[in-house]
Parts: sequence; structure tokens; C-alpha cells
Amino acid sequence: MIDVPDLDWDRLGGERLADLLRRAPKAELHLHIEGTLEPELMLALARRHGVRLPWASVEQVRAAYAFTSLQSFLDLYYAGAGVLRDAQDFYDLAWAYFKRAAADGVVHAECFFDPQTHTARGVPLAAVFEGLVAAQRRAAAELGLSVQWIPCILRHLSEDEALATLQQLGPWREHFIGLGLDSSEVGHPPAKFQRVFARARAEGLHCVAHAGEEGPPAYIWQALDLLQVQRIDHGVQAVHDAALLQRLARERVPLTVCPLSNVRLCVFADLPSHNLGALLQAGLCVTVNSDDPAYFGGYIADNLVQTVQALRLDARAAWQLLAHSFEAAFLQEQQRARYLAALQQAFSAAAAPG
Ligand code: ADE
Ligand code: ZN
Repeated sequence: MIDVPDLDWDRLGGERLADLLRRAPKAELHLHIEGTLEPELMLALARRHGVRLPWASVEQVRAAYAFTSLQSFLDLYYAGAGVLRDAQDFYDLAWAYFKRAAADGVVHAECFFDPQTHTARGVPLAAVFEGLVAAQRRAAAELGLSVQWIPCILRHLSEDEALATLQQLGPWREHFIGLGLDSSEVGHPPAKFQRVFARARAEGLHCVAHAGEEGPPAYIWQALDLLQVQRIDHGVQAVHDAALLQRLARERVPLTVCPLSNVRLCVFADLPSHNLGALLQAGLCVTVNSDDPAYFGGYIADNLVQTVQALRLDARAAWQLLAHSFEAAFLQEQQRARYLAALQQAFSAAAAPG
């Protein structure tokens, strides 16, 4: 747990706090790179490769983004990812996100991608990694943004396919730090992938899993006990289980919460109904992230500002959300301390008189 600094907190509210949230250094820990595909780039790549899409204009693409559930989103999302064909496409996609993230104060990003979405279409992992790693290097050199990759297993596919995917990733092991689990949650419990994550842990990978986005608290227990994950992606359904909340708080298992995503996918009716405030209140290491920002109407700073405003969180709570992002990141301790010092500096400067 990171101590709250001694500041004149009363000076930080309203527009001053919103501005600080936009500028302050932060880590993004729940971001699918395929979910940063803006309609403009989607249409440009479709033209580049002669891919037929059901939409002819940016307006038509955006009009299709009226989701009713996770599955209604995923159907469209996987169709959109069909325009990603070669290394240049993955480079363009990732570089566009890195520039956008840096403008939001992101200094460290741990980004997901879905290898199976691409290999299933005949796109080799070599092309995926070539593009992603080139953009990652440019982000470090030109933006001072550190990026790590976490491939995710598609849970609607079989355990054997997941094991084969982990095997196929072997030659690129130096380019990723962990393994995640995403896609359609209900009906695909973490238990299905116990052997996959055992192997990943044996290979020294950090393990994370989407759990409790739409699925029950039991899926969060499974992710903790059977997959032994270090973070839970989403996890908002934990509020329905007091014993689970206590465990998450006691063990400081971070939740990578994505408020705008949850509203767009109808997990909550609107932002004021979101339970992020209750999770913070329960003592959990809650972080705010953007998930698939091109589809959900906001990048990380939009998520932070809109959530803090909708839930009427104070500046101390806002500080915690940002400090948690560094606490929860897979960082060397020295680097974590440097980022936290920079965060404290940003808050101190904003709270100073004058
Ligand atoms: N893949 C991309 N976004 C996702 C989400 N919110 N839940 C599960 N799988 C995803
Ligand atoms: Zn996600």
C-alpha cells in the first residue's frame, strides 16, 4: 500500500483536479491493442488490403457501436481486426495508440493482444511481433513511454488451442512479459485453462485474467486459486461476494477496472451507477483503464476524469487510482519508485499556492 502524501488536498477539486488527472503520470494496465483501432484507420487498412467491410464511412462504423453485451461487442471487434494483415498494419495501430496514450500522461503501458485472432486468419506471429515491437521501440525512444506486451488466450476456443498458442509464442518469448485470458466470459470459466496457466507460470510469465466482467464471483475465485493470477482484469462482480472482497483487499490483488467499457457493454446502466467507488472504499487496489478505447468512447484520461466526476470522488481517491496503477504494474522496484515520485511531484505542484 502506498502512503497518501501530505498535501493541501482542499486545493484540488473541479477543473484543477480534472486537468491534473489528464496530465499526471500514470500506467495503463488493461488495454487491448486491437481495441485501439479507430474507424479512420480501419477503413484505411481495408482500402490498403482490399478487405470488404460492412461499413463505407467513419459515421457508419461509429453508428454500429451500439452494444448490448460483451458478445455483441466482440462480434464487431473481431470483424474489425480482420483488416490487420501485415507488420506495417500492427505498427501503425500500435504507434497511433502510443502517441495518444503519451498525450494522456501514460508513462508505462502493459498492452494485450490476441495472437489467435490473427493466426486464425493466416497472419503469422512474425508479422504481429515485427510491427508491435518496432512501435514499442519507437515509443521508448521518442515518447519516453515504456511498453510491455501480454498476449491473451481466447477463452471461447479450446484448451488444446490455447496450449498450442503458448507453444507458438515460444520464439518471441523475449518480447512479452505475461499471459492473459480474454474474450467471451460466461460459459468459459478460468478452470478450463488451468494447464495453460501452469505452463505459463513455469515459463516465468506474469499471469492475469479477465474475470468478473459479466461472469460470477466464482470465476474470480478460480482465476486466483486455479490460475494463480497476479491481477484480475475487470473484477467488478466481486462486490457480490464479501469474502472475495476481503481476500482481494488483504492480498492486494489489483483490479484493472474499465469504467467506460463497463457502461458501453451494459455491465452498469451509467457511470454514476458504477461500483468503482465501493471497491476503493473496500480497500482494494483499483486501477482505471480504457480496455478498447476506439470502441468505448474514451482513452484513459477520459475514463479517469469522467469516473471521478460521476462518482464524486475526491482528490485523495484520484491520487489512489493513479498510485495504484504503478503499484499494480509489473515494474522493477527502482522504476516503480521513480514513477511514484513523479506522480507525487505532479500532485504537489498542482496543490501549491499561486
Ligand atoms: N477483448 C477485448 N476487450 C475485451 C473485454 N472487455 N472483455 C473480454 N475480452 C475482450
Ligand atoms: Zn479487456
